[in-house]
Amino acid sequence: MPSDRPSSVESPDRLRDAMVAELRERGAIRSSEIAAAFGTVPREKFAPEVPVSAVYSTRDTVVTRRNAAGKATSSISAPWLQAEMLETACLRPGMRVLEIGSGGYNAALIAELVGPDGLVISVDIDPFVTGRAILAETGYPQVKVVLGDAEHAADELGPFDVILVTIGAWDCPWGHLLAPGGRMIVPLRFCGLTRSFTFVRDGGHFAGLDPTVCGFIPIQGAGAHQEHVAAVAGGTVNLLIDAGPALDAAALDRALDGDRTERWTGVTVGYDDPFDTLHLWIAARTETFGVIWADPQRGSDRMEPAMRWFTPALITPDSFAYLTMGPEQQDAESGERRYELGVHGHCRHGDALARQLADEVATWDEKWREHPGPDFTLYPIEPTAPVPTIGRVFPKRHTQLVMAWT
Ligand SMILES: C[S@@+](CC[C@H](N)C(=O)[O-])C[C@H]1O[C@@H](n2cnc3c(N)ncnc32)[C@H](O)[C@@H]1O
Repeated sequence: MPSDRPSSVESPDRLRDAMVAELRERGAIRSSEIAAAFGTVPREKFAPEVPVSAVYSTRDTVVTRRNAAGKATSSISAPWLQAEMLETACLRPGMRVLEIGSGGYNAALIAELVGPDGLVISVDIDPFVTGRAILAETGYPQVKVVLGDAEHAADELGPFDVILVTIGAWDCPWGHLLAPGGRMIVPLRFCGLTRSFTFVRDGGHFAGLDPTVCGFIPIQGAGAHQEHVAAVAGGTVNLLIDAGPALDAAALDRALDGDRTERWTGVTVGYDDPFDTLHLWIAARTETFGVIWADPQRGSDRMEPAMRWFTPALITPDSFAYLTMGPEQQDAESGERRYELGVHGHCRHGDALARQLADEVATWDEKWREHPGPDFTLYPIEPTAPVPTIGRVFPKRHTQLVMAWT
């Protein structure tokens, strides 16, 4: 007898169609070519160990490999981010593409877009990842998978029309592999933040277009970068700063038991308001800028960061101040939910840091909140890049990222 009950096993085809429709609706997919690629490649085949409904969530990353400590070392990125990166790459039939960080699914999407006359080379450092034969099984044998450290592995293989980096890179040593007029999509980490940039050549440097907020698994191998991290509050919260003197985790942890400075700024944000330019503004103003990560599974009652991830903070070896949010307020007229931004400061310099952080929040709100955000330019490491009037230079091993507020 036929049953009206929905099947407990969802059809991958239906889930794929729903994913494409949702990505179109939220603007991540804008072109018919990208829609066709996402509608064709069987995403579930690249993560056979994961329930099919989870594989097709548009917002979620699918972890495909962890190290001995349980940390994710390989994943299929969230569909919305893959779509955004592929849209900005402007891939056309016949192009030569280098994908850095492999896994198969994204390379298959690229192969759909560049067609049989194109070339896709996908480099990964992990033999487990390069050894999986899923691309051949799913019908993409034209993707060439290369085992090696992306720092050098593609040196002999360029030039490429598009270089698409799918790891959290701290530097960008791939500019010399880009063909004239090419595009390089790179999730680049600086001062604890990651933005996916579309780099296009502009004379001797690269303009960094469309900085998109994202998170990626950090790069391993020669390009890895060690940030300073201090775990506090019983390991539930990490304070992170890119460089400078090492953090005294024990002193920072003890500071939580001492007096706390609390300041309220009068600046409010709505429930869905993006305020990622606030992070960039504060980062431009002080080298003590860092971020706070709270463990999503184990909240701490000793700290109240504004967000679980990437809460802006000012951090010195033994003191810190961070952004917090007040209780929900409802706008009397519109009914909109809003939250006041505040600052908590701890330890010897906590009060001064809290004052500084609160002042920067107020300046951003007054002068820069409606501004589209800073310009980014990537220069080679030599000669010294121009220092912006308002902004900051982030020196790396091969390049310097310049953030300029104009
Ligand atoms: C987010 S996954 C790549 C996702 C993939 N492009 C997809 O289809 O969605 C990042 C990959 O980068 C690899 N990786 C990390 N450091 C690397 C390096 N230095 N060179 C090459 N691959 C690296 C990891 O092994 C991991 O498989």
